[in-house]
Amino acid sequence: MIVTLTANPSADRAVVLSEALQPGEVQRASSSREDAGGKGVNVARVVSAAGAPARAVVPVGQHDPYRVLLEDTGIALDLVEVAGRARANLTITDPSGETTKLNLPGAELSAAEASALTAGVVAAAEGATWLVLAGSLPPGVPATFYADLIEAVRSRWGAAAPRIAVDASGEALAAVVATARPDLIKPNHEELAELVGEDAEADVDVLAEAARRATALVPERAASALVTLGADGALLFTAEGAWRGRAPKIQVRSTVGAGDSSLAGYLLADLDGASAPDRLARSIAYGAAAATLPGTQAPTPADLPAEPIAVSDFATPIATS
Ligand SMILES: Nc1ncnc2c1ncn2[C@@H]1O[C@H](COP(=O)(O)OP(=O)(O)OP(=O)(O)O)[C@@H](O)[C@H]1O
Ligand SMILES: [Mg+2]
Repeated sequence: MIVTLTANPSADRAVVLSEALQPGEVQRASSSREDAGGKGVNVARVVSAAGAPARAVVPVGQHDPYRVLLEDTGIALDLVEVAGRARANLTITDPSGETTKLNLPGAELSAAEASALTAGVVAAAEGATWLVLAGSLPPGVPATFYADLIEAVRSRWGAAAPRIAVDASGEALAAVVATARPDLIKPNHEELAELVGEDAEADVDVLAEAARRATALVPERAASALVTLGADGALLFTAEGAWRGRAPKIQVRSTVGAGDSSLAGYLLADLDGASAPDRLARSIAYGAAAATLPGTQAPTPADLPAEPIAVSDFATPIATS
């Protein structure tokens, strides 16, 4: 069982325009759709679509329309009652493919709601193989929320506690790495740089910089790191070694949620008992599959690229093309 937490959920509305976006004007959209968003929800959707057991823990209000969107996903849910409404994230795409995103702030969680959410996650984690803490924290909770939650889960379940994966950024991720030694982190290149107090902007050799930063953290501060690099594929660092996998050449439709699918692919491979290079390959295949699908549509095993993903030991990198 893979249990995910989405602490700051969003209703993702995708609006398609038949002409260029004109600020200040009234425009008609040619189509629009709304999906239950949030990184933990995305991971649970991909895991469920592959036929593996998953549950999503989500704070949601009783009359929040987001609740209906969540129920429409068909994934198993552990809902924690809160007063506020889930935020909306708006994506506007024009005919040229230009995309404008407006991400709204989430509703504030009270201290009592944050405690209820922690209790809900601790209970849901019973018997799970992995617990995935993914996405931003809602306003009102401290930056140490994930770090404290990891502590609570481990002290409740001891040796039977699930392994814990964190896909977050900024202060929430920094706090986790500072005190909680997660089993897996899944930063992208920029998030990893920020985590070690650097700026990725000036990087010339992305692979070498990512490797230097990750090996400063693994295995002491995080047992392993899956570092995704968009079209450049991904790197995996564990106590046993480091691997690099290349992304397949694909027709990109939407990279929104590609990282969430990467993490789901990694966990699915781990549930199958796959080796480190095979876990990395599955994560890249799932990330690439997500990027070929519109919006945040969850890839299924049928959507995976047909060609095998090339993975090499990072000590002997495969030739770059
Ligand atoms: N342009 C692309 N071509 C091929 N594969 C891609 C491309 N973009 C993303 N991918 C695949 O998706 C994976 C994750 O992408 P990326 O590193 O952009 O994640 P991310 O920044 O965490 O995204 P998000 O947080 O929005 O889900 C990559 O490792 C790769 O396998
Ligand atoms: Mg990401």
